[in-house]
Amino acid sequence: MTALTSLDVDRAAALAAAEAAGRLDDAFLARFDAQFPRLHGLFSRLYGDRADGQEQLAETIAVASTSWNTRPLDLKVRDAQRLADPAWFQSERMLGGVCYVDRYAGNLAGIRDQIPYFRELGLTYLHLMPLFDAPEGENDGGYAVSSYRRVNPSLGTMAQLSELAADLRASGISLVLDFIFNHTSNEHEWAQKAVAGDPEFEDYYLIFPDREMPDAYERTTREIFPDDHRGSFVQLASVDGAPGRWIWSTFYHYQWDLNYANPAVFRAMAGEMLFLANQGVEVLRMDAVAFIWKRLGTACESLPEAHMLLQAFNAVLAMAAPGMIFKSEAIVHPDEVVEYVSLEECQISYNPLQMALTWEALATRDARLLQDALEHRHALPPGTAWVNYVRSHDDIGWTFADEDAAALGINAYEHRRFLNRFYTGRFEGTFARGVAFQENPATGDARVAGTTASLAGVEAGDPGGEDRIVLAHALALSSGGIPLLYLGDEVAQLNDYSYEDDPARRGDSRWVHRGNRARDQYARRDDVETIAGRVFRRLTKLITVRQSTPEFAGGELIGFRTGHPSVAGFQRVGEDATILVLLNVGDEEVTVDPLTLSGFEGEAFDLMHDREIDLREGLTLPQHGFVWLRVNPLGRSVRT
Ligand code: GLC
Ligand code: GLC
Repeated sequence: MTALTSLDVDRAAALAAAEAAGRLDDAFLARFDAQFPRLHGLFSRLYGDRADGQEQLAETIAVASTSWNTRPLDLKVRDAQRLADPAWFQSERMLGGVCYVDRYAGNLAGIRDQIPYFRELGLTYLHLMPLFDAPEGENDGGYAVSSYRRVNPSLGTMAQLSELAADLRASGISLVLDFIFNHTSNEHEWAQKAVAGDPEFEDYYLIFPDREMPDAYERTTREIFPDDHRGSFVQLASVDGAPGRWIWSTFYHYQWDLNYANPAVFRAMAGEMLFLANQGVEVLRMDAVAFIWKRLGTACESLPEAHMLLQAFNAVLAMAAPGMIFKSEAIVHPDEVVEYVSLEECQISYNPLQMALTWEALATRDARLLQDALEHRHALPPGTAWVNYVRSHDDIGWTFADEDAAALGINAYEHRRFLNRFYTGRFEGTFARGVAFQENPATGDARVAGTTASLAGVEAGDPGGEDRIVLAHALALSSGGIPLLYLGDEVAQLNDYSYEDDPARRGDSRWVHRGNRARDQYARRDDVETIAGRVFRRLTKLITVRQSTPEFAGGELIGFRTGHPSVAGFQRVGEDATILVLLNVGDEEVTVDPLTLSGFEGEAFDLMHDREIDLREGLTLPQHGFVWLRVNPLGRSVRT
């Protein structure tokens, strides 16, 4: 075993390993030269004290080179296109969709049959929820992976997945898959070997003989799934009468965290990542990024090493699958969320703050926290983008910063308790029908599950329900980056409580918003006498207007305040004109006076209603209403 030494020596070792593994391609070599110093620097910081640092780095390069050699030609062509147009995902035509393969379409063949519908909708990005081999029964919706190289047999095969990726690509849709790299399932081959006592694989996980270290770590870690187990560890079965050992398990007891302090884990997972890249995946959703590095005495979330690891994966990607990008899934404090978003780490990221504040504003009828976030927490480094969404497959956590709330005189703790009561139907007069997720009696913490339609008031029969669904999407579709639809929301799919009868799902209330494809509602989508039809018509109108509005490309926005607390506002500045977006979360109609709008020329164009309007008359926003207006700021040259 050899430890890392100097850049030159380690570089020579890496090239020798790559050469031993096969041909060294010129294009690969050029990218290797560009990326290796960075990767070496990261390895030195992460693994400088490991006896096998150099060896694992060299093996990583060998894996990357081999992966490039076997990368299908059409994907190399796609790489070249992406490198020539790195802003591809900033287009106003981008639209994401997400669904479970089994729940939405039965299997991969069923998903393929849905391509015409995805095109009808205008999708350019499709996130298929985890579809890998996973334990039977409980598997966290596939987030417990038993093999990254095998598709769950009930869904299809890896060959079908690559074909599907190619079909999607031919339809202008990029395949997005999860890279569940923080943990494997307890049935993964590595996990089984670790349990059996194979020292190589014991070092792939964090296993301790007794409670001493687990107790020490748990003094500062957060409980993620307290309904499943307290703390961050679970106990393994006892062997030969000895008490069972303890293994790190942040999420469910059958999801075991990988030990990234071991460079062999990085090397192995880089191989799994590149395997997926070569199946035609264009965006990898980096699951649970905040948790990948642990250090005693810390929360073990968002540590500097977590960023270094992402940068190291990014460098490997840039060598062997340069057209692919990373999407960050960090559902943490907003200061931490943005730290993952950069060209060096994840090019795109969920925007959990805007998502949560959309719901916060709808509940309170007060858009001030949302407005502050749009103005102060929306900016991202050039070349990166938010993924803006109304709902995901996960719970809604109230991840706004306590200090942002305090600045508005809001007590964050009390406010979160209110929001949980409101969205779980426990608040008098609420329009929402949701279910609590992972209520923690020790901390009073909880999160919320429920579909968009149920949370917005449709299930309760609230007259504002439909409008709130549209309003929330009007924000996600206009505030920049990639808007992401949870498929089913476009036909106002309601909660599905049948999970309570399913032993494998009963313990996880997120299944309430993960129902099967709402066939009946889809069948009614052209019938505007139905809620499904009206919501579908209004959301597809938003989508088509967005597609033909170049000002919506990119992600920059400038806040616009009307003085009405129930109104959020911002401008999206384009080359020729500006789009003014105003959204009223309140139950009352609001009139924005002419003076407030006097920075614009009088003539404006209402994009949703295809009509000229005169801002000198002021502007009325109905309850739960919004406008997308093309305006000309005074002092800017008028469009010709
Ligand atoms: C992410 C997923 C979530 C899953 C967890 C563990 O947060 O979105 O569904 O439970 O990671 O993989
Ligand atoms: C995420 C989060 C947690 C979230 C969970 C999925 O990574 O940090 O807050 O709710 O996993 O449910």
